[in-house]
Amino acid sequence: MDHDETPDPNLDLSEIVPDMAGTFKALGDLTRLRIIHLLSTDTSGTLGVSELAARLNITQPAVSQHLKTLKTEGLVHSRREGFYTYYTIDRERMVVFRDHFELMYASIMEKCNRELIRQSTRDRKIRACVIFYSYTGITRGVAEGVRRASGCDLIEVRTKKPYTPISIFTTGILRSRRMASDPIDPDEIDVSVYDLLIIGTPVWAGRASPAINGAVKALRGCEGKNAVVFTTYSTSPGDALPNLAKALTDRGVKVVTEISLAGEVTKRPDAGGELLRRIVEADPFSGLETGTTGQEQKTDGIS
Ligand SMILES: Cc1cc2nc3c(=O)[nH]c(=O)nc-3n(C[C@H](O)[C@H](O)[C@H](O)COP(=O)(O)O)c2cc1C
Repeated sequence: MDHDETPDPNLDLSEIVPDMAGTFKALGDLTRLRIIHLLSTDTSGTLGVSELAARLNITQPAVSQHLKTLKTEGLVHSRREGFYTYYTIDRERMVVFRDHFELMYASIMEKCNRELIRQSTRDRKIRACVIFYSYTGITRGVAEGVRRASGCDLIEVRTKKPYTPISIFTTGILRSRRMASDPIDPDEIDVSVYDLLIIGTPVWAGRASPAINGAVKALRGCEGKNAVVFTTYSTSPGDALPNLAKALTDRGVKVVTEISLAGEVTKRPDAGGELLRRIVEADPFSGLETGTTGQEQKTDGIS
């Protein structure tokens, strides 16, 4: 798996776990971790058994044994040069380990997030939906992560006329800068059954996407609803969030919190869970104490 690639969230954890157990076992030893540390901080690329033994103050056979374990797990490479054998870390193997660990972490966090929601909604059933637009799939990935952890509904907004890789950087940028609204599918978004709206968009030229502006106009039954707005962006969030929040406030929606997720967060498999954690932190449920949909039911969390 390439270093900058997002780990595939559909990878079957049961396939990964045995592999990870072997790696954890190889790394779960102080001397072996010290070897990994020495190899990772070595710039010469010429660390061999005798040098490692001297630095760790242990015997050469002991070092050889530990290196054999690390090699068996594919964590280190060896290279022969004349009489000497040098050891280096297998970078690709480490990247795979990190990706697998992140997937396991994301799965654990999903369970923790469900518990977090259950506690913060105080055992009341809150109906929520994520309304989002996504061009390259990042915002969609975050929205789907929120759904996986919370069971809420997803409403994906699409432009009636799809952007092309060229028109997005001409028309798209121009329209977002002007805060224009694109014609979208669906024509109307009836949110009257929901207690909480979570509305997300990518940042385009420092603004919200014209598609999400269209979505705000297409809302029906939104007056008095609580909302959380979020953006995904690479490096510079601009003023997309306050603009989006204002457009919603003008429609009578109460924006409880604004959350921006940078590229370094959105590329992690638990980005949806991270958004949910920040939503819960803002406690958008406290205003839903009386008279909102479904709260009479004593069930868990969001749906
Ligand atoms: C037309 C266009 C304009 C963009 N402008 C910005 C910007 O101003 N600041 C920024 O940090 N990222 C910008 N980006 C990057 C996206 O906001 C970022 O990759 C986002 O997470 C993509 O979400 P999506 O995959 O759901 O479409 C831009 C991307 C596109 C296509």
